[in-house]
Amino acid sequence: MKNINPLLKFDNISKSYGNQCILKHFSLEIEKGESLAIVGPSGSGKTTFLNIAGALDVPDSGNILFNNLDISRMTDNERSAFRNKNVGFVFQMHYLLPQCTVFENVLIPTLTYNNASDKINAVNRAKELLDRLGMMEHRDKLPGQLSEGECQRTAFVRALINQPELILADEPTGSLDEESAAILSSELISLNKELNTTLIVVTHSMKLAEQMNSVLYFKNHQLTPNL
Ligand SMILES: Nc1ncnc2c1ncn2[C@@H]1O[C@H](COP(=O)(O)OP(=O)(O)OP(=O)(O)O)[C@@H](O)[C@H]1O
Ligand SMILES: [Mg+2]
Repeated sequence: MKNINPLLKFDNISKSYGNQCILKHFSLEIEKGESLAIVGPSGSGKTTFLNIAGALDVPDSGNILFNNLDISRMTDNERSAFRNKNVGFVFQMHYLLPQCTVFENVLIPTLTYNNASDKINAVNRAKELLDRLGMMEHRDKLPGQLSEGECQRTAFVRALINQPELILADEPTGSLDEESAAILSSELISLNKELNTTLIVVTHSMKLAEQMNSVLYFKNHQLTPNL
């Protein structure tokens, strides 16, 4: 059944690297607030798909509509402004800046704000989110002084700080032990519900995948609901 008001609409997307086909005539609609897991073998194209969904990369053909805005035909500058405003990325590696504290790191996406009240709101949101993830006591530490799980929580807050409608997470628990991964997964899912963001997670963990609204598998250059 077609969604009435999808956040993301992939329409006949194809993407190759040289002779290597990744996506072929792929179409999908993702509803607002939905949580979706992407599962597939290494090299199948999961990261490529996330990069296209988050306007880090563009398809060779086809269109991607984000709230009816075509993000597949933008200039590099337009895509970068679009990403900063609308998409929060969480990667397997947290990519926190080592010389900045937790608090400074989570505020990096807000550095382009030039309005004083927007800046104050961002600081308040950072405090709320850090508190929510049990990170306020670590706010003045550098990433090198944190555990892996704490680094990933910081990266979550950074991804959420601009209140993006879309969160893209690529193996967000991949570098964690099982217990930290389980805690972080449930935090990710409850935050997604609370903030009503749309969440797409690439994961090898079926435990995490099963907690999403739906699971799609990479198969024959498509994402399908069946293995
Ligand atoms: N920039 C690029 N140039 C050429 N080939 C690329 C590029 N990026 C990815 N590929 C190739 O595309 C295929 C899909 O890569 P991708 O990173 O999307 O896989 P993945 O499903 O995320 O794998 P993994 O589970 O190992 O992270 C791989 O075979 C990869 O070598
Ligand atoms: Mg990958």
